[in-house]
Amino acid sequence: MAVSIPLTIGELETAYKQSRGIETLGEGTAMKLIRMLVIGVFAGFVCAAQAQQAPEIVRENAKATPAEDGKAMFSTYCAACHGLAGKGNGPAATALKRQPADLTQLNKRNNGSFPAIKVGLIIKGDEVMASHGSRDMPIWGKIFTDMEGERLATLRIHNLTEYVRTLQEK
Ligand code: HEC
Repeated sequence: MAVSIPLTIGELETAYKQSRGIETLGEGTAMKLIRMLVIGVFAGFVCAAQAQQAPEIVRENAKATPAEDGKAMFSTYCAACHGLAGKGNGPAATALKRQPADLTQLNKRNNGSFPAIKVGLIIKGDEVMASHGSRDMPIWGKIFTDMEGERLATLRIHNLTEYVRTLQEK
């Protein structure tokens, strides 16, 4: 998260004088600048304090990735929540109501075989998750379809599912 770094009062004065084309500042103006600086510093602290707590989740348009590259798609679309290795500890995880699933344990939790169809449906968004209420995980089927149509969306979901298969712990 970006934390603003405040200028010094000297730099602020110089910038102000240059922008106005003046040599000296009246006292009232100097005070105004100091107040601006203090507010700036304070805002910086507030940002820093928030950054220590939960990261802010910014919803933005999905970035383009090659539909055939499961790994690139996973790191772009999934790792923020699930972590690069799929352990469920991505940087956005602490900001979610529900802990993202540990995607390395799917085999183990399914008697040693990979539940590919279920995983595909969960990514797509058709499978109702065990946990009810608000679904924290995005409905990727819709996002991918909106990006470039249904056929490529199906390919993306397939390749993501196959990539998740490679993350399984023995
Ligand atoms: C915004 C955070 C977030 C993102 C991004 C995200 N997930 Fe999830 N995912 C979750 C959460 C939280 C759960 C746990 C279920 C829920 O939503 O309550 C979950 C559950 C799952 C499950 C179900 C696992 C199980 O135990 O049944 C799979 C599979 C999965 N995610 C795969 C993915 C894949 C693949 C991507 C990328 C295309 C992805 N997720 C992106 C948050 C996320």
